Amino acid sequence: MTIITVNKPGIITVSMRDELECTVGSVQTHIDKIDNNAFVWSVWVDRHVRRQGIATKLLIETERIVRLSGSAVISLHNGGGDRAEGLYRKLGFRYLRGDKHESMNIMIKEL
Ligand SMILES: CC(C)(COP(=O)(O)OP(=O)(O)OC[C@H]1O[C@@H](n2cnc3c(N)ncnc32)[C@H](O)[C@@H]1OP(=O)(O)O)[C@@H](O)C(=O)NCCC(=O)NCCS
Repeated sequence: MTIITVNKPGIITVSMRDELECTVGSVQTHIDKIDNNAFVWSVWVDRHVRRQGIATKLLIETERIVRLSGSAVISLHNGGGDRAEGLYRKLGFRYLRGDKHESMNIMIKEL
């Protein structure tokens, strides 16, 4: 498996390719240069390779690039329920305020 990064102005795509060069997961992030904020708007891993740490690796690489871009905060909308929440919490994300309902499922991490 290989991580591929495409860093276009304003949008970072970090994806994982398997031995056949097929994309099996990706994380897409919008960078807001004015507010120094990064918003992850898509996290996806193909069903047949889930639970092997791919999303974790893609998010760690995304964080590294976001940090280099000068953003102080990374945020996302958890639309993936409890399993995605477990993924994000392990990486240090927390709900914006209080619980998920109060935060409208927005999670953040200060870098
Ligand atoms: C959520 C998703 C991205 C996780 O991808 P993944 O590569 O399987 O995640 P990882 O292997 O890196 O998992 C890291 C941790 O997340 C949590 N997690 C991931 N999948 C889980 C599941 N099915 N059930 C419970 N916890 C889960 C666990 O804490 C896991 O750590 P562990 O395996 O050591 O217990 C993947 O299931 C997916 O693409 N789902 C559909 C799209 C989606 O919901 N995206 C998120 C929208 S916000």
